[in-house]
Amino acid sequence: MKMAGKLVVLGSINADHILNLDAFPTPGETVTGSQYQIAFGGKGANQAVAAGRSGADIAFIACTGDDDTGERIRKQLESDNIDVAPVSVIDGESTGVALIFVNGEGENVIGIHAGANAALSPTLVEAQRETIAEAAALLMQLESPLESVLAAAKIAHENQTRVALNPAPARALSDELLALVDIITPNETEAEKLTGIRVENDDDAARAAGALHAKGIDTVLITLGSRGVWASVNGEGRRVPGFKVKAIDTIAAGDTFNGALMTALLEERSLDEAIRFAHAAAAIAVTRKGAQPSVPWRKEIEDFLGQQG
Ligand code: RIB
Repeated sequence: MKMAGKLVVLGSINADHILNLDAFPTPGETVTGSQYQIAFGGKGANQAVAAGRSGADIAFIACTGDDDTGERIRKQLESDNIDVAPVSVIDGESTGVALIFVNGEGENVIGIHAGANAALSPTLVEAQRETIAEAAALLMQLESPLESVLAAAKIAHENQTRVALNPAPARALSDELLALVDIITPNETEAEKLTGIRVENDDDAARAAGALHAKGIDTVLITLGSRGVWASVNGEGRRVPGFKVKAIDTIAAGDTFNGALMTALLEERSLDEAIRFAHAAAAIAVTRKGAQPSVPWRKEIEDFLGQQG
């Protein structure tokens, strides 16, 4: 298995329409928001940006529409140190959209229109075979067609490219796909969806990690929100706490964690060090609004870590 080298991210690109409210509306209710912004997002793009800004050598396989939003997003991704050559422009499609409510506690609910993201087909993945084969690691999420995620995982596996999967948003997955994954990073909800085990404490996390190891995955990192991460390698598990900060907006916190984690792992840092680096990146992200606007650059992560003593 390759340890250091290039990262390839495969995933979604969205324009996020974000409305801040005191409390989420209940069915039939209309609520006036306090702030509205459009910002670039999408789990794939957010993770690519987190990797690019934190120092990875990264290429991004994705799709935008042939609209003005897509053009602006591709330019922005390039300025975030990302090779966007494998980003396809889909004729007659619109770029993906996410409609997001953020409440007074910084929590969010999200509705998505996939748009061009749905066009990321196995054929487009096959066209990027060399990019995946030459990379040291491939990072994916679940906002892309599952058959394409599987096709990319197969190419990676055949070429000793490490497969990292952030199984978000929560979806049931085949054993065939899970057997190709080397590192998986579910949150509690996603871990339950994959294993049937409700994760409420460290013992549950250990059992859920065990169930994922049994599917053939060596490294299981279950993210536990403010409690940190349950990190389990071949059944040896422990909790790695995160940093305490005042969260104002948790959009893309998980994405930032995943992108920064891959940067650190591809620099051959130990798993504990990589998790600490990723925790720091995510801690900064939750103190800022929006998805990609909240993702820190490497210097900011290093300064934050330097202040922790
Ligand atoms: O993980 C956060 C992301 O989920 C948002 O940027 C939104 O686009 C949705 O994909």
